Amino acid sequence: MNLASKQPIGIFDSGIGGTSIWKEINQLLPNEKTIYLSDSKNAPYGQKSEEKILELCIKNTEFLIHKNCKIIVVACNTATTNAITYLRENYAIPFIGIEPAIKPASINTTTKNIGILATKGTLNSSLFAKSSNNIDQEVDIIEQVGEGLVELIENGQLVSNEMTQLLNSYLQKLMQHNIDYLVLGCTHYPYLIPQIKDIIGNDITIIDSGQAVAKQTKRVLESNYLINPEKLVPTHFFYSNTNTDVLKFVLGENKNYKVEKLNF
Ligand code: DGL
Repeated sequence: MNLASKQPIGIFDSGIGGTSIWKEINQLLPNEKTIYLSDSKNAPYGQKSEEKILELCIKNTEFLIHKNCKIIVVACNTATTNAITYLRENYAIPFIGIEPAIKPASINTTTKNIGILATKGTLNSSLFAKSSNNIDQEVDIIEQVGEGLVELIENGQLVSNEMTQLLNSYLQKLMQHNIDYLVLGCTHYPYLIPQIKDIIGNDITIIDSGQAVAKQTKRVLESNYLINPEKLVPTHFFYSNTNTDVLKFVLGENKNYKVEKLNF
């Protein structure tokens, strides 16, 4: 057993979106303690420069390392695609990242057109360009920036006229290209799935990377002998640097968790 195995898993995102990943991790690894960092004061990351995103990721990483985390899950596509290489090279603990699931979509598409909805920061990153170049060249990836979606979610306007209008305009553009897969390339977007389905119907398959990230987290913990041997149901800690109402709303009731506002 690795002595660090009883320490928590650290998870961060620019805001509440990474809780969609936290839920997958908690379902797969219910005995693991977790600490979640919502850097909502600085959301959205998607419109920021690569340098700024890196600076914020370093701040979040150091916070979680000081909290004794044994592994860090970067539960944000924008942060992963802009900063994970640096983080892996500069910190001694394992990192799990999340990238848009274009590979499975490209393997399964029959129309040979897949749509991706993500932030500008993700779509402009060199890591995303590299992943796109590695997929079947016969498949067209139609990119759409989801500008404004993260801000509305962070403001608690998940269901609002403004949200419906934005989603309609972005998804209609993608649907003009005969897509049969829609990749959600931002961890905030799974919270919009009911509304997205209302617009795109049942013929287009929605795909995101949440479950894959949870499985990868489990694999990496196992291979480093870091699975918590204690069979307990832990209390989870969620920290935000702004108002915590939306965070509590997406986490729902009856969970074994504590939410705190902190300055970081
Ligand atoms: N959840 C982040 C992602 O997956 C949101 C990005 C942002 O803050 O703009 O990309």
